[in-house]
Amino acid sequence: MKFAHSLIEKNLPLLMVLILVAISFGGLVEIVPLYFQKSTTEPVAGWKPYGPLELTGRDVYVREGCYNCHSQMIRPFRAETERYGHYSVAGEFVYDRPFQWGSKRTGPDLARVGGRYSDEWHRVHLTNPRDLVPESNMPGYPWLARAKADDGTIQRKMEVLRKLGHPYSEADIAGAPKALEGKTEMDALIAYLQVMGTAIRSTAR
Ligand code: HEC
Repeated sequence: MKFAHSLIEKNLPLLMVLILVAISFGGLVEIVPLYFQKSTTEPVAGWKPYGPLELTGRDVYVREGCYNCHSQMIRPFRAETERYGHYSVAGEFVYDRPFQWGSKRTGPDLARVGGRYSDEWHRVHLTNPRDLVPESNMPGYPWLARAKADDGTIQRKMEVLRKLGHPYSEADIAGAPKALEGKTEMDALIAYLQVMGTAIRSTAR
């Protein structure tokens, strides 16, 4: 045994290979079960995939880089749950491709912002945040109110997501352009913000 140990310590390539084996094994033990656990692969009860308007709003959120200042991930710590509501769980993100957890909080976490403010609050805030929060350094996004929500790609987007397992019906996809009719990107973004985190009702607020 002593001999084997000194052999490994003196033989660098062998040491590196064995370290790699040890780390890979550790990684696999942690990662592989996640693919088979219901709590990480199935949506939380009653959670549905985003509708056409919300899906469009989500794309606006990604395009405008809101994730650079806002996370969508409440950690299970008292300081977080008291402020934002129930901590985030894996089953809330099964229809998020890609998820918008983020890692930077210049602004507050948005994971449970759905239903916290009225649509009208969001409209004023997104147009010029300082009208509501004078000290805010969030940029305004007034042009979203002038951009049409329908760019002609919604049905293709939904078809791709259906292939990945989002349960959209034929009727959902057929009706998608109608759901975007007359809507602006601002409407879409607000619709998205209003469903955010509503799968689990906040207990703190
Ligand atoms: C430069 C950083 C920055 C960017 C980019 C940014 N925000 Fe903010 N956001 C903030 C800050 C700071 C606040 C807190 C002050 C305020 O309410 O305006 C905030 C507040 C908010 C709030 C209110 C949250 C609450 O719980 O009170 C919402 C909703 C929001 N932002 C949405 C967005 C959306 C949607 C985008 C992208 C279109 C975005 N933000 C982009 C910094 C940012």
